[in-house]
Amino acid sequence: MASLIISTKEKSYPIYIGNGLRYQIQTILEKNAIPYDSVLIITDDNVAPLYLSDVAKGLKAPVHTFIVNNGEEAKSFANYITIQTYAIQKKLTRQSLIIALGGGVIGDLAGFIAATFLRGISYIQMPTTILAHDSAVGGKVAINHDLGKNLIGAFYHPQAVVYDLETLNSLPRRQQMSGFAEVIKHGLIDKDQALLPFISGKDQDELFSDYHFLREILSHGMKIKAEIVKKDEKETNIRKFLNFGHTLGHAIESESNYRYLHGEAVIIGMIFALYVSEVYFSKELGFQKYKTWFEKLGYETSIPPSLPITNLIEKMKVDKKVVANHIHMILLRDIGEPVVVRFTTEEITEFMHLFIRE
Ligand SMILES: NC(=O)c1ccc[n+]([C@@H]2O[C@H](COP(=O)([O-])OP(=O)(O)OC[C@H]3O[C@@H](n4cnc5c(N)ncnc54)[C@H](O)[C@@H]3O)[C@@H](O)[C@H]2O)c1
Ligand SMILES: [Zn+2]
Repeated sequence: MASLIISTKEKSYPIYIGNGLRYQIQTILEKNAIPYDSVLIITDDNVAPLYLSDVAKGLKAPVHTFIVNNGEEAKSFANYITIQTYAIQKKLTRQSLIIALGGGVIGDLAGFIAATFLRGISYIQMPTTILAHDSAVGGKVAINHDLGKNLIGAFYHPQAVVYDLETLNSLPRRQQMSGFAEVIKHGLIDKDQALLPFISGKDQDELFSDYHFLREILSHGMKIKAEIVKKDEKETNIRKFLNFGHTLGHAIESESNYRYLHGEAVIIGMIFALYVSEVYFSKELGFQKYKTWFEKLGYETSIPPSLPITNLIEKMKVDKKVVANHIHMILLRDIGEPVVVRFTTEEITEFMHLFIRE
């Protein structure tokens, strides 16, 4: 049984979350009447030796596989074209299916290939990272351009998301924690506050040692994202709230040459946004409490001293989400109540200096 149904204007599709689902892909395809005359599984060189054959062996049609080198660099034009060529050579048709088996990188790359091959064919997201609980929902798929991340892409939903939580056991703890930052983000922006109270204050072991608990919090996270996306698929309005912590987060990622993983940078961005929110709205939101919790979880919570503030601010400006010369930040008017606020460069500089002294 599907754990969640995502409804969008164009279509609705199921999300399955459970243990060992990689062995059940054929049953899931049949149950959802997803036809396919052949399959192309796209994955990376870390995931392939662990799970590729488990997925492939259950399928009842010719299976082709394409394995890219792991890492953000995989979302390249070169891979995009090479895989399209491979799909043409293997004679994939409009009825063929692409399976994205991997983290957010594979989801974005394989999803964009599916969106454009023969003007769009079906695809399934099989996330294998915690971060991908986020990226597999919402239909945003993209590759990178030399001038910036995710600049070439589409909005293209999968036919289903099949999340086998057993695969998370092999994910390095640092990657798990980076992905967990997005779970925290979903908790902080959720108006119903159905997630945050369950995770707040818990340590790493409490979060990751109980399968049922993990399943619960990941489905909650996906549900929160799905609700927001449902109301605003094309990011003209409230979908922006999903960028909470990301204005500074992206700047730290990029300015540190990706020494900080996405979630590690977003944690610093979120704690900064909480700080600014408290000052801007003159309201106690638990900044200290969250900072202490994030540190207990092993996250860094300060802006890295090695990264010059002026460079970070420049990066915050060139961020895709910035209009004109201002910086847009997502703040919290209250926990679970995100709002977009526009600041001048001078205002942000001031906040950054105050935050550093905090
Ligand atoms: N489309 C969206 O809405 C959206 C949202 C957020 C992030 N993203 C994108 O997601 C990407 C980041 O995703 P990610 O953090 O999952 O990174 P990733 O896909 O690079 O995976 C992280 C690392 O873990 C390895 N790995 C993956 N699954 C594993 C497993 N089960 N066991 C062992 N190793 C495993 C990978 O090979 C990789 O080295 C970025 O490119 C980002 O732009 C997209
Ligand atoms: Zn993110």
